[in-house]
Amino acid sequence: MTTNNLKKYRPHLHFAPKRNWMNDPNGLVYFKGEYHLFFQYHPNDSVWGPMHWGHAVSKNMIKWEELDIALYPDEFGMIFSGSAIVDWNNTTGFFPDEPGVVAIFTHHLENGEELPPVQTQSLAFSHDQGRTWTKYEGNPVLINDTKIDFRDPKVFWYEEADKWIMVVATGQTISFYSSPNLIDWQFESEFGNNIGVHDGVWECPDLFPLKVENSNEQRWVLIVSVGDNTQYDIGSQTQYFIGSFNGSTFIAENESINWLDFGKDNYAGVSFSDIPKEDGRRIYIGWMSNWRYANQVPTEGWRSQMTLPRQLSLRKSGDVCKLIQHPVKELEYFLSKEIEINGIIENEDGLKTYQVNKPYIEVVLNIEMLDANQFSLILHHTKEHMTTIDIDSIEKILKLDRSKSGIVDFSDNFSHDQMVALENTDEIQLRMVLDSSSIELFINRGEYALTSLIYPDQACEAISVYSSNGKVRFTNSYISTPLK
Ligand code: FRU
Repeated sequence: MTTNNLKKYRPHLHFAPKRNWMNDPNGLVYFKGEYHLFFQYHPNDSVWGPMHWGHAVSKNMIKWEELDIALYPDEFGMIFSGSAIVDWNNTTGFFPDEPGVVAIFTHHLENGEELPPVQTQSLAFSHDQGRTWTKYEGNPVLINDTKIDFRDPKVFWYEEADKWIMVVATGQTISFYSSPNLIDWQFESEFGNNIGVHDGVWECPDLFPLKVENSNEQRWVLIVSVGDNTQYDIGSQTQYFIGSFNGSTFIAENESINWLDFGKDNYAGVSFSDIPKEDGRRIYIGWMSNWRYANQVPTEGWRSQMTLPRQLSLRKSGDVCKLIQHPVKELEYFLSKEIEINGIIENEDGLKTYQVNKPYIEVVLNIEMLDANQFSLILHHTKEHMTTIDIDSIEKILKLDRSKSGIVDFSDNFSHDQMVALENTDEIQLRMVLDSSSIELFINRGEYALTSLIYPDQACEAISVYSSNGKVRFTNSYISTPLK
């Protein structure tokens, strides 16, 4: 394998392991000035296999330092997804001297060809900021005799009742447990029968309170990933519910289906634990891939990357709250405004093209459709490779077409259009981060996200804007390029 092949497609702004296979983000936790990212990792191959927890740390969530493997498989099985928390009050008894981190994860034990695997929940703790780990001697701490799918525990401290809450995926539902010490768990309730999308197995839940923008209201958000089902076209996807949680039961406030991302490549995402109160942000990272083709994407020597860390909030329109996503502000340290895009374009102008030639960029466009039927943003990765984003003001649809973006033939499904239905196309804001092998699009100040992998020979030679059948006006619009 040549270095060139190893480097090709490697992201600049996103975490990817140096070598080998990665899937879900695990154990996202902030402790003593460091953000920790653990992840599902196969250290010996670049396809999924016996799962370990890989580990990386960062001061800004954009540039990561990969550390040694944190958790290895053992007699209880592989180390599947889970979370990490700081045990500030030594509820576990693991930290008589000073607080440390506890990982709560799923042990997955293969059980021969005749019997299904066994999934149980276990603990490990660290006294040295996640550098070394001890598995709890009483593992597993939680078993379930009836559910085969019983995995991906996300744990948080529920202050109102001084207890830990675990949300864990149980097949087609999410179950809630509580504990005073992370060791003894009590079943509280189950959510998900007759609500939400059930096209695939439910995985990787997360539950947290969030403020509604510009108000004193708060809601609880339950994130649920829905696994790949080959009967459907879409592959793996993530949905969310908004509602209330009383320490025992989650109640959704409506029955609507909510997608966290309209692109194909954001799965198994969860949020950080223990972000300091003074900071107050709820920050999410997803796995930027799709189980439909994750094992086939054309990188060599390494596979998979994470989304940008995203700050979450809620925005209310009418009576309905929507989950809002923005790349974290730390991204700004890596970009500077370089090219302004202002004024009016119209169809007879043809394509208006800006030369870029950079390894990664951000594009912000504030668009007024005036009388145009369609607006297009064309990303020319190279002379041959391009991705197109079209906004159709008649159909009220935004569509991302990656069919000519580079290598696409590793999966039949990869070239399919990715679409968002918009309520209104008179004024649209697009914010896009383009890295070596990904596009993250945030529409209308984070109201919709669309995350999409691409495999062009390089990120960006030029970008063009174009309007059909009328005029489009840009204000405060620009391209940012790497900060020198
Ligand atoms: C989600 C998932 C989890 C599981 C892990 C195994 O992508 O299937 O449910 O814990 O991956 O690697």
